[in-house]
Amino acid sequence: QEDTFKKIISHAKEYGFIFQSSEIYDGLSAVYDYGQLGAELKNNIKSYWWKSMVMLHENIVGIDSAIFMHPTVWKASGHVDAFNDPLIDNKDSKKRYRADVLIEDYIQKLEGKIDKEIKKARKKFGDDFDEGKFRETNPRVLSNQKKVDDVRHRFKTALDNDDLAEVKQIIVDAEIACPISGSKSWTDVRQFNLMFDTKLGSVNEGASTIYLRPETAQGIFVNYLNVQKSGRMNLPFGIAQIGKAFRNEIVARQFIFRMREFEQMEMQYFIQPGKEEEWFANWKEKRMKWHKALGYDDTLLRFHDHEKLAHYATAATDIEFNFPFGFKELEGVHSRTDFDLSKHQEFSGKKIQYYDNERQESYVPYVVETSIGLDRMFLAVLSAAYKEETIEKENGKSDQRVVMALPPAIAPIQLAVLPLTKKDGLPDKARAIIRELKYEFNCHYEEKDSIGRRYRRQDAIGTPYAITVDHETLENNTVTLRDRDTMEQKRIDIDKIPEILREKVSL
Ligand code: GAP
Repeated sequence: QEDTFKKIISHAKEYGFIFQSSEIYDGLSAVYDYGQLGAELKNNIKSYWWKSMVMLHENIVGIDSAIFMHPTVWKASGHVDAFNDPLIDNKDSKKRYRADVLIEDYIQKLEGKIDKEIKKARKKFGDDFDEGKFRETNPRVLSNQKKVDDVRHRFKTALDNDDLAEVKQIIVDAEIACPISGSKSWTDVRQFNLMFDTKLGSVNEGASTIYLRPETAQGIFVNYLNVQKSGRMNLPFGIAQIGKAFRNEIVARQFIFRMREFEQMEMQYFIQPGKEEEWFANWKEKRMKWHKALGYDDTLLRFHDHEKLAHYATAATDIEFNFPFGFKELEGVHSRTDFDLSKHQEFSGKKIQYYDNERQESYVPYVVETSIGLDRMFLAVLSAAYKEETIEKENGKSDQRVVMALPPAIAPIQLAVLPLTKKDGLPDKARAIIRELKYEFNCHYEEKDSIGRRYRRQDAIGTPYAITVDHETLENNTVTLRDRDTMEQKRIDIDKIPEILREKVSL
């Protein structure tokens, strides 16, 4: 799986999806640029989210708030005091680690051992193998599972109690039980605030420190009243936003999984107090459906309900995706009560309340939020799509192809238009076809190389359909339509292309 991940990263670069930022200067760690195909794919993911939230819900509206916000916002939200990560230095390697990342590595190693046992047993028992029973009875699996549960519990408790000495002890213990990074000498654990700061105004006179927002949600909370009043919104209603967020992640790694500059797609749903359970369940299910509508099978996604909750929260779940490095959080759904709005009411001194005609009373609304990282979603889409296939040929030989089986609706290019040769008027005809289609579909013209090589290139960038313009096209106005996944080709009438494409690229 490590190998697959490396291949995906180099594929993403080779074909113009993602480049390291400032690469000609050796790059900037954990900061990435989206290339010509990456920008298209990212926009399509954004649009898929925005449409499903804003267009399909008459009571959800979208905003676009500023990255810079008043410094008190981050005091009210708790980010100034509590947006910290415990850090630990390794004396030998002189490297700095995030405690949670080290613990996560340890857990992954234990889970790897469990998986190995299961695989071995499955091979031995074949069809009779009952994984559930095996997990409940095999001593080695039970012992490793207990270690996983224990370390999770210990780490959470240590963080809740701000007990940094205990955090260090857990890492030391884990190091003994299962080496993490080949060394046992750690310095003390320190807290580190993840917010980037900068100066607003002249640096010399009266400049004030402000932060780059570490989440987009606060831009929604501070605009709650503006939107509710100007949009004449009644509860329940939602505010959605897509935008950049910044976190000074210490150990930023795993490509675009954990970045320092990234984008979030968040939606805050404002509800009557007492309805939080119902709306939490509703959004949890809706968000999972949104992911599954992209065609993923059930093995790629799962919920991870939080047992320990923040003091103000009533429920929280992660939608986890099976990345090439294992199941990891992709999206969070949180029931946050009136915590955020109440805090802003307290710190701003402005009344942030809703008059409920039905209940005939005013109150601070409750919130259920859905929060997903756009870049993380991009990585999930890439990882699920990347496939290496062996194709059996008619002459008995076989061929290899890399295909990005991207959902057609979000693929960067939806249709490749390929003239069979560069002469006899075929390029002109191909371009004429594009002129008709380009307002509705993202089309791509390509005349270089043999047709076979051009198909492979389109497979590699995930173009779901390609049409080839040949001599017959000039005679009877038909083209061949090739399907990326099945590689089947069929002859169709040019006039039918929009209708066929429309059906294929809609979700
Ligand atoms: N308003 C709630 C909030 O920000 P979060 O769990 O801190 O919650 C939400 O972040 C989502 O943002 C995560 O599920 C993840 O997809 C994404 N995310 C968080 N930190 C990230 C990072 N450093 N790089 C990329 N995506 C990140």
